[in-house]
Amino acid sequence: MAAPSEVTIVTGCSRGIGQAIALELARAGHRLVLVARDRERLERLADELRVAGSPALVCAADLRDEGAPARIVDAATTAFGAPTVVVNNAGTAPADKVENTTNDVLRETFDLHVGAPLAFARAVVPAMKQGRRGCLLQLASTAGLRGYPFTSAYTAAKHGMVGLSRALHAELTPAGISVYAVCPGFVDSDITRGAAAAIAARGKSTAEEAFARMAAQNRIGRMHTPTEVATAVVRLVRERPTGCVYDLDRDQPGFVD
Ligand SMILES: NC(=O)c1ccc[n+]([C@@H]2O[C@H](COP(=O)([O-])OP(=O)(O)OC[C@H]3O[C@@H](n4cnc5c(N)ncnc54)[C@H](OP(=O)(O)O)[C@@H]3O)[C@@H](O)[C@H]2O)c1
Repeated sequence: MAAPSEVTIVTGCSRGIGQAIALELARAGHRLVLVARDRERLERLADELRVAGSPALVCAADLRDEGAPARIVDAATTAFGAPTVVVNNAGTAPADKVENTTNDVLRETFDLHVGAPLAFARAVVPAMKQGRRGCLLQLASTAGLRGYPFTSAYTAAKHGMVGLSRALHAELTPAGISVYAVCPGFVDSDITRGAAAAIAARGKSTAEEAFARMAAQNRIGRMHTPTEVATAVVRLVRERPTGCVYDLDRDQPGFVD
């Protein structure tokens, strides 16, 4: 069970992996700050958490806006006290061939996957340093460790997210702050279902075939589940093991260099 003082920001929790992480962290006793653009979905999740006895604050925001993280941290501090954990999970997965991938798409993807985690770190690290304790966890991907076709912006941004995590880990470990980048392969969520539907709409194969091809790209030979990812995240946040980049797409998940 986490210390009752844990104040945890979870981004991208209006659905998918982020929602599974929020539910698990609430069960572990964290006071949660719920972030995504869709306020209605966040309010529904907050109601569900409060009914179960877990306090939750809704902060609807578009995290491509550089000022949003500092505003969220201010609101969280007023409601619950200074955040002690940030789970940077919000993400989109633009997929297209390189000829169609513009620098605008690249910038937007970087703003969300790298810019927002950096802005959250700027806002929370001073109080974490004072308390000599804290945890910054990024939901990265095996696309941050190796290359996948038709995802140049996403793969570049996830490599950026892993690189940012490594730099923060090197800088902040001496201050008592743990930094992780968790790397699942393909996960059964809206992103993958949507990508499979988009392939089917182009008439290349059925959505089921496209989904099966994605699952086959995982080294574990199947899709991860959101719950499986959430369980790994909650364990890292609770136990704070030594290490930074955590590869989930292995028979024995663990840290890589
Ligand atoms: N699914 C996979 O196969 C897979 C594999 C490896 C890593 N990941 C990573 O896991 C994370 C979660 O993915 P998922 O599969 O759960 O995706 P998802 O179901 O599409 O959920 C994405 C979440 O991010 C939020 N979000 C998107 N753009 C945002 C923005 N501009 N500002 C604030 N919030 C935003 C969405 O909420 P709103 O739309 O309400 O804003 C939603 O809550 C992502 O970082 C993804 O890259 C996914």
